[in-house]
Amino acid sequence: MSEPLPAFPAGFLWGTATAAYQIEGAVDEDGRGRSVWDTFCAQPGRVANGDNGEIACDHYHRWAEDVALMAELGAGGYRFSIAWPRIQPDGRGPVNPHGVAFYDRLVDALCELRIVPMATLFHWDTPQPIEDAGGWLARDTAERFAEYAAVVADALSDRVQHWITLNEPIVHLLCGYATGVHAPGHALLTGALPLAHTLLLGHGLAVQALRARGAQSVGITNNYSPAWPATGAPADLAAAAAFDGLYNRLFTEPLLLGAYPDGLRQAFPETTALPELADADREAITAPIDFLGVNYYFPTRLAAPAEDAPLPFELTPIQGYPTTSFGWPVVPEGLHHLLVGLAERYGEQLPPIHITENGCSYDDAPGPTGAVHDPDRIAFLDTHLRAMHSAISAGVDVRGYFVWSLLDNFEWAEGYAKRFGLVHVDFETQVRTPKSSFHWYRDVITATG
Ligand code: FCB
Repeated sequence: MSEPLPAFPAGFLWGTATAAYQIEGAVDEDGRGRSVWDTFCAQPGRVANGDNGEIACDHYHRWAEDVALMAELGAGGYRFSIAWPRIQPDGRGPVNPHGVAFYDRLVDALCELRIVPMATLFHWDTPQPIEDAGGWLARDTAERFAEYAAVVADALSDRVQHWITLNEPIVHLLCGYATGVHAPGHALLTGALPLAHTLLLGHGLAVQALRARGAQSVGITNNYSPAWPATGAPADLAAAAAFDGLYNRLFTEPLLLGAYPDGLRQAFPETTALPELADADREAITAPIDFLGVNYYFPTRLAAPAEDAPLPFELTPIQGYPTTSFGWPVVPEGLHHLLVGLAERYGEQLPPIHITENGCSYDDAPGPTGAVHDPDRIAFLDTHLRAMHSAISAGVDVRGYFVWSLLDNFEWAEGYAKRFGLVHVDFETQVRTPKSSFHWYRDVITATG
């Protein structure tokens, strides 16, 4: 590409990220229970093309090949998620030894190759029996989640260096419970907001369970989308602030500051149903974390809503930037501003950051020689790494970067149509072909790692 990338701090962790339901397949094997995604995919019209995760990348059987790919990449870390229904098929009680053994093998293989494991406990695949008992709307789910965290930590905390409790709780809340475009498919609109408290409590109780079992480094991963007001008009500024409070601050401030964001209750009357951070919950929720996982894809542009609109903002398209095949605008400077903004907003309260996801989907396909050229992904990653570097130079403590994703995979409601991988997967044959971005990233890791 253009100029070589600048040097990154010593020990910077370069890796890739995946999630269990998106890659594992083997949904009925070795005692795995059902998850909300199995149920959701079986409902007609929920997922593009009627796709589901029954086979996905068949990673449950091909994990050794996938770990070998990471070694070829020279990756220093791997962020993966653990499927709760594989560990506890009912989401509570008896532990499935085959499920534990799968992650045990995976973690051993990573450690042997000196690839640092970063395990996410919840990447949206709630056991169906837990959903049937109220899912994340029920306070008991937070307790069950902590019980599951304890089981996993007992098995793996001697080798897993970094733990992530929840992946993108705001996205789970909005897509899974407010709009219903993801499993479990509830469309409660703003009525979903009280769920935030259960998710936060589940996080906090899991942190305690992990720490009690010797986990060294514990965090949470949030999705952040810088809020751009459509104009400088006060009504647009207010719309951007309301979105920011909901999307970027709801799952950050209770943890770091011990309070729900200012203005949240005024902007969203439904959040009056959120309990005040009562003393007992507050202690769990504000338990210190060792790092904040930051997922960044794109900013959001907000305008004042129409008078009788249900939300205090309206999303408006961002113009003037290239877009990915998802239609997401490519705005690398958004990553710089996000990181610097987090440091400015939270100061001393902000723990070190890992970028736990960043990446793009393009319609990558093998050319006549079988090679997969994805120059747009290389440009995306190159510009985002520079943006991250400039934030580090400005003083933000970023310790690692994980490309979403190692493999093309099951992209939730979009099925297999959206390809985010550094490695192309032919879903008919399961043949893996590293794309040119894989070779590019390997060179970045070698040169800057
Ligand atoms: C994030 C999800 C991840 C993947 C990417 C594209 O929101 O955490 O599983 O789907 O988006």
